[in-house]
Amino acid sequence: MTIRLEQPGDYREVENLTREAFWNVYRPGCTEHYVLNQYRSNPNFVHELDLVMEEDDRIMGHIMFSKAELVLDDGTRRSSWTFGPISIHPDYKRKGYGLKLLNYALEKARAMGIGFLCMEGNIGFYRHAGFDLASKKGIHYHAEPRDAEVPYFLAQELIPGWLKNNGIIEATYCPPRGYFVADENAEAFEAYEATFPEKVKLRLPGQLV
Ligand SMILES: CC(C)(COP(=O)(O)OP(=O)(O)OC[C@H]1O[C@@H](n2cnc3c(N)ncnc32)[C@H](O)[C@@H]1OP(=O)(O)O)[C@@H](O)C(=O)NCCC(=O)NCCS
Repeated sequence: MTIRLEQPGDYREVENLTREAFWNVYRPGCTEHYVLNQYRSNPNFVHELDLVMEEDDRIMGHIMFSKAELVLDDGTRRSSWTFGPISIHPDYKRKGYGLKLLNYALEKARAMGIGFLCMEGNIGFYRHAGFDLASKKGIHYHAEPRDAEVPYFLAQELIPGWLKNNGIIEATYCPPRGYFVADENAEAFEAYEATFPEKVKLRLPGQLV
C-alpha cells in the first residue's frame, strides 16, 4: 500500500472512486465526486494534502483538505482548516485503510503547521484518529442551536493549545462554500454526473437526505 500526492492524470479515476465510495451512502446517489472535481481549482484547496492511496496497482483511497474559517462572537474571522471527502473504495472498506490514510494525512497536516481541524462526520470512524465533539472545544456549528451538542460535528487540535494561542475560546464554523457546489448549480452537476456509467439511485435506511 502506498500513499502519494494526486496527479492530474489521476483526476477522473479519483472522482470515480469518490462516486463509488459515496454512492447511496448519505443520499440516493451522491455529489461528493463533483465537489472534488470543482474544488481542485478553488483557492482554499490544499494541494499538498490532496492524497491518493494505492493497493494492487489501483487507486482505492483519497482524501482532500480545505482552508476554512472560524467566526468569533465579535465577528472576527480566523483561518482554520477542514477536510473531506475521504473515500475508500467499497472493495477495501473496513480493512483499516481509511484510518491509515487519515492518520498519514493528519501527520502531514500537523507538520505543515495546521493546528486545528473541524468537520462533519461519523464519530464511530473519526474518534480512532483523535476527533471528538467540536462543542467540547467551544466550536459551534452554524446550522445548529449554539448550546447543542452536535453528534456529527467533530474537531481536533492537531497542535495542542492552538485554539487558545490564537485567542479562540468560542467560535462558529460554517463549511466553505465550495462544499455546496452541487446544490448551488444543479444543472452543471447533472451534466457532469451524466458522463459517468449509470448507477441506480436507491433510498436506503440511514441516509441523511
Ligand atoms: C468512512 C471510510 C473512509 C472509512 O474507511 P474504512 O477503511 O472503511 O475504515 P477503517 O477500516 O479504517 O475503520 C477504522 C475504524 O472505524 C470504524 N468505522 C469505519 N467506518 C465507519 C462508519 N461509517 N461508521 C462507524 N464506524 C466506522 C471501523 O469499524 C473501525 O473500527 P474498529 O477498528 O473498532 O472496527 C470509508 O468506509 C468510506 O469511504 N465510506 C464511504 C464514504 C464516507 O462515508 N466517507 C466519510 C465521510 S464523513
